[in-house]
Amino acid sequence: MGKVITIKNNKGGVGKSWITLQLAHLATICDENQNDILIITSDSQNNILSYAGIEEDFNSGLDSWIKKGDGELIRLRQNLYYIPLTNYKISNSIGLKELIKTLKNKYKYIFIDATPTLNLDKNFIEMSDSILIPTFLDQVTTKSISNFIAETELEKLRVIMPNRFTRTKKEKDYYKSLEDIFKSSNITLTLPISQSGEIGKLIDRGKTIWESNNKKLKSIMIPFIDAWEALQ
Ligand SMILES: Nc1ncnc2c1ncn2[C@@H]1O[C@H](COP(=O)(O)OP(=O)(O)O)[C@@H](O)[C@H]1O
Ligand SMILES: [Mg+2]
Repeated sequence: MGKVITIKNNKGGVGKSWITLQLAHLATICDENQNDILIITSDSQNNILSYAGIEEDFNSGLDSWIKKGDGELIRLRQNLYYIPLTNYKISNSIGLKELIKTLKNKYKYIFIDATPTLNLDKNFIEMSDSILIPTFLDQVTTKSISNFIAETELEKLRVIMPNRFTRTKKEKDYYKSLEDIFKSSNITLTLPISQSGEIGKLIDRGKTIWESNNKKLKSIMIPFIDAWEALQ
């Protein structure tokens, strides 16, 4: 039975889609049995495709999978597949949940890139085994984490992953406050991922960090490996 991992923050630009792709790709690399892994999304821009360097056209997506149990399935990497979103107004919650249950029979892990979308997110959270929250180290975003924790199923929250860190004093203070909040919990706060031009270049080339030999990216791999250990 596959596991469902949701990457979620109501804020845009924190790196949900990019992080989802890096983690899912890491999961395929770590899996000695080469099981298939799936990414689904509530992002109607399907940013994951461009982060993966895929320019494939598609005309059906998650809604078709819900209606017909079949639809477009895009291969991103070896053992890594993606169901695009063509219509974000998915009202059939029961169908969505049934689909995820069925997909769990076929895929070892299902990663969900959860952009705030009416209705969809609530169902994704309900279907999740684990949740990872990417965050900026600023007041608004750390506050939105507290709100999210208050309203979500806390036991599913496994990892907080600060991203786009620019090493300011303020950010370091927010990191410290998060450390204090989570140190006696079983929630993993990873080391922060720096805002990095090298990452920007990789994204432009449609490559993941696991496909680069750039030494400057080595330190960025550590938070991902820690997150992946905590999520299993
Ligand atoms: N650590 C990072 N360093 C540099 N650019 C980043 C980093 N993390 C994300 N980005 C870039 O920031 C933008 C937003 O990331 P994205 O994953 O699309 O956020 P979200 O899905 O939360 O809206 C993208 O252009 C992405 O390439
Ligand atoms: Mg996104």
